Amino acid sequence: MRISVFGSGYVGLVTGTCFAEVGNHVWCVDVDAQKVASLQQGKVPIHEPGLAALVTTNMAMGRLQFTTDAAQAVKQSEIQCIAVGTPPDEDGSADLQYVLQVAHTIGQQMTDYKVIIDKSTVPVGTADKVRETIQAALNTRGVGCDFDVVSNPEFLKEGAALEDFTRPDRIVIGTDNPDKIIPIMRELYAPFNRNHNKLIVMDIRSAELTKYAANAILATKISFMNEIALIAEQVGADIEQIRLGIGSDPRIGFHFIYPGCGYGGSCFPKDVQALIYTAQQLGINTRILNAVEAVNQQQQQILFQKINNHFQGQLQGRCLALWGLAFKPDTDDIREAPSRKLMEALWKHGALVQAYDPEAMPETRRLYGERTDLLLCDTPEAALQNADALVIVTEWKLFRSPNFDFIKAHLKHPVIFDGRNLYDPQRLRNRGFTYYAIGRGEKISY
Ligand code: UDX
Repeated sequence: MRISVFGSGYVGLVTGTCFAEVGNHVWCVDVDAQKVASLQQGKVPIHEPGLAALVTTNMAMGRLQFTTDAAQAVKQSEIQCIAVGTPPDEDGSADLQYVLQVAHTIGQQMTDYKVIIDKSTVPVGTADKVRETIQAALNTRGVGCDFDVVSNPEFLKEGAALEDFTRPDRIVIGTDNPDKIIPIMRELYAPFNRNHNKLIVMDIRSAELTKYAANAILATKISFMNEIALIAEQVGADIEQIRLGIGSDPRIGFHFIYPGCGYGGSCFPKDVQALIYTAQQLGINTRILNAVEAVNQQQQQILFQKINNHFQGQLQGRCLALWGLAFKPDTDDIREAPSRKLMEALWKHGALVQAYDPEAMPETRRLYGERTDLLLCDTPEAALQNADALVIVTEWKLFRSPNFDFIKAHLKHPVIFDGRNLYDPQRLRNRGFTYYAIGRGEKISY
């Protein structure tokens, strides 16, 4: 098949590359000429395991092309995927300008039947707006052209995106023209839909809402556990034992019940807020979603509160070693990362940060620039030198079994604040550390 994918961000790059890998001819279109130029040289702007190699192979095979030439891309393909960003507006609503710009471009250029697949996470009703925008552009040109708009939300996780795309647990298709669209989508997804049928066909609005509902329920599980962790901490219980105790009930399950220093990333915070906004516009009071969001805001402050509490509010001139900047392992993404809230609070109180992250330091440097209260270190060990304490923010594998003797020898105080519950509290205490984790029995008054 011939496919154009608009937007070469996370979803677009993964979608385009995976479709090319199974033999389709894919044009990835982006308005950012610099990004396109560097992709044309095989340079992938994001860290996603396996993606760069796949991009290079498929470019070499001539199946994957990067271009700024939207007109050409529209003409060449029957399938047009929209995979541009929907960043939050100030009021929390999703900003649709990029989605609708693509729709306008498609309407300006199309001369024959097209299937427009919306893969961006968009509020309910966006497919209608996309359709109207395309139709308006066609009307302006005086061209009569048939087209279908399909909602096909993407559920991939950063760090596991290729696996998620190629072995999906569901392929949600929202359409108002199933007789025509289902055979096309079945053919498009056939390579990823081999053992049992994962296509779930529904109306467009349900598909649009499915994506938000999925992210919102996952965020709810996390905030719920973070709230139970607060209780556990105060009553002298261990949330990690509780996690095992409840996760073993298949109705609850072990996924997404890890307490921590709050969820981040490009999806959960933005999508929960956008869903709250949509509901508010309809006069619905989203009590659960509001709480999910509020608990997470508070949880992103928890490491700072523990640090501030330990040092009795005396943070001026203190130096904290920070392990992990990315919002989760296996990505260089620091959007809405808990590390940022923590660093910003520490800086506000006059503390210095010595940070290490395997992938996210270039992005951190780009965002914060050169500043005297942030030192980005080449190794986890270098970050410890003369620091008052160690803080773990992201659960990268290389932080799981560190040399504790080295840590103790190089920190000014043997204190660890662990936002991801990586270590056994008793073992660390036996080694002479003061160890603060999340919900593991140490009573703290905030
Ligand atoms: C998420 C959804 O999982 C994915 O289906 C959707 O398409 C996009 O949003 P992603 O943002 O890549 O994916 O990351 P995910 O692995 O879901 O983690 C999100 C955040 O939740 C991270 O900050 C992570 O640290 C946190 N988290 C996750 C927890 O705090 N506890 C958990 O148990 C699980």
